[in-house]
Amino acid sequence: MNPKANLLIIDDEKPIRELLRDVMANDRFVRIETAENGRDALDKLKGFPADIIVSDIMMPEMNGLELMKNLRAANSDAYVLFITGYGNITNAVEAMKLGAYDYITKPFDPSDLRTKIQRIIKREMFFEDNKTDGNICHSFENLIGQNKVMVDIYKTINHIAPSNATVLITGESGTGKELIAEAIHHRSLRKGKPFIKFNCASLTEGLINSELFGHEKGAFTGAIKQKKGIFELADKGTVFLDEIGDVPPSVQISLLRFLEDRTFKRIGGNQILKLDCRVICATNKVIPDLVKNGSFREDLYYRIKVITINAPPLRERRSDIPLLANYFLKKYSDENKRRISRISPSGMDMLIAYSWPGNVRELANVIGHGVLICNKEEITPACLPSEINPGCNGGGFSLTLRSRSIPLAESILVKKVLEENNWNYKKAAKDLDIARNTLYSKTKRYGIKKPQ
Ligand SMILES: Nc1ncnc2c1ncn2[C@@H]1O[C@H](COP(=O)(O)OP(=O)(O)OP(=O)(O)O)[C@@H](O)[C@H]1O
Ligand SMILES: [Mg+2]
Repeated sequence: MNPKANLLIIDDEKPIRELLRDVMANDRFVRIETAENGRDALDKLKGFPADIIVSDIMMPEMNGLELMKNLRAANSDAYVLFITGYGNITNAVEAMKLGAYDYITKPFDPSDLRTKIQRIIKREMFFEDNKTDGNICHSFENLIGQNKVMVDIYKTINHIAPSNATVLITGESGTGKELIAEAIHHRSLRKGKPFIKFNCASLTEGLINSELFGHEKGAFTGAIKQKKGIFELADKGTVFLDEIGDVPPSVQISLLRFLEDRTFKRIGGNQILKLDCRVICATNKVIPDLVKNGSFREDLYYRIKVITINAPPLRERRSDIPLLANYFLKKYSDENKRRISRISPSGMDMLIAYSWPGNVRELANVIGHGVLICNKEEITPACLPSEINPGCNGGGFSLTLRSRSIPLAESILVKKVLEENNWNYKKAAKDLDIARNTLYSKTKRYGIKKPQ
């Protein structure tokens, strides 16, 4: 999509068509056409290749759903945004299942619509710059990947998002399970309501129960006041239970009861509370193995795996590596204000060949480090760690790149900029855009010293 994105507005009411045209006309790069209904739109589309379509759903002659079916049959790759009356959300959901991009409910703030459209344009332009092998690249919410397994996951998400079914997401660490859970929430009618993440491996048994279900005042020593649990806080929204395979036995029983009819009691309470929240679980363990060895209840397993999504390891979708690598390259060079425009062909070959035990998280960290340590405008094999580039010492670093964050990123940057400035703190602080005292405290914290 070039900056002259084509927009088609479809609504049977002229004043609305005009209003929308006016709103979007401020964005000088959008070329706009209008149509009165689905049939009129299909006619217009013959001579006007729309990139984005904004359409009402209820219209005479041909409504939005029929239009969507036609677009789908014609393999149109336009982004379709529907505008729907508040009482008509089921239609919008139908449209999303047919492949619509998003919907907005009436009455709506035109600036929300503009923001949605801007987002599509920005995303498309980014991918235009990063096309590989002439294929159109795909992304979905915050998930990136055009490999068939990913595209299938996007379709599944679209398909299951509107339901309330519990979802189990499995896959190795760093494969994007959390992003998948977020995408499901965001594509569901619960979007806009709370999405609360909880790591089941992070606390002791007693504390997990009280975090999830809450407690009454005086329920146990230290319970000085009533506390609502995560499920209650996420009423009408979604709870993401991460590392579900690590849930201790007593919590498994409470969870099973809760999932059966969404009722529960706060710890120490008598009142039975009922609420409406969707549960999405994730694990990097193989639950059937846990069931076999007795550490996971079989009945709970059946309860949570109503829908299962398997996030594939990166080595099983290697064709996505260039796309992801270029995405992280842009992200980290922008964030760190470094002008690194590409990954050299031999560097990319190494990235594609590597086995990525830490999956996308590891790739992000490798590129993040590469951006900080490379001296040229491109990331070369010398900027890659020794696991990936066995022929070299990895630009002097071989880090535990599978770690969750990049705490080392800043220390590498600080050291590098000091070296570049011949250990002149004043100049280095200026380059880093921080106060000299801040630089001193950072060097102290990271143990960075001028070599003797
Ligand atoms: N398909 C993807 N596109 C873009 N970024 C991704 C993708 N998959 C993962 N990531 C990034 O990789 C990192 C790890 O992703 P995420 O936390 O979703 O993985 P996970 O499967 O939940 O891992 P874990 O089992 O360790 O919790 C995040 O920074 C995420 O943004
Ligand atoms: Mg996770």
